[in-house]
Amino acid sequence: MKRGLIRGCCAVLLAAGIAAPAAAQDAAYARSLAAACFTCHGTDGRSAGGVPPSLAGQDKNKLLQTLKDFKAGKRPATIMHQQAKGYTDEELELITGYFSNVKAAPAATAPAPRRK
Ligand code: HEC
Repeated sequence: MKRGLIRGCCAVLLAAGIAAPAAAQDAAYARSLAAACFTCHGTDGRSAGGVPPSLAGQDKNKLLQTLKDFKAGKRPATIMHQQAKGYTDEELELITGYFSNVKAAPAATAPAPRRK
């Protein structure tokens, strides 16, 4: 009786212990995939001056659809066709999930007035 209870507890603890690192690994994997986009779209998808467009904080489904359209060649692009083709749909899911969860950059402010 006591043994059964202990065994049951162990199974629950084990299951919890396995699930948590898996989620953390997914998040780390998603960020490492997204990092390939930082070169052009800015760190965490916040691009300088909005060129190319910032990805941070954009709607996940919209981003995913745009990338799938790039991948299929349905949306005009200079280089995004090649970029999008390098990823499976599952990887694009992770990447767009990452960017949609990043807080968007604050709107650009006008440069401070110069002192004379
Ligand atoms: C070499 C630079 C470069 C890299 C790397 C890059 N992009 Fe782009 N991205 C662009 C440019 C330039 C555009 C404008 C479309 C075009 O000319 O291809 C663009 C457009 C986009 C758009 C459309 C934005 C809009 O609102 O119209 C999305 C979404 C996007 N990129 C996502 C990504 C993702 C996700 C990655 C990483 C997997 C990535 N890009 C990697 C340069 C890049």
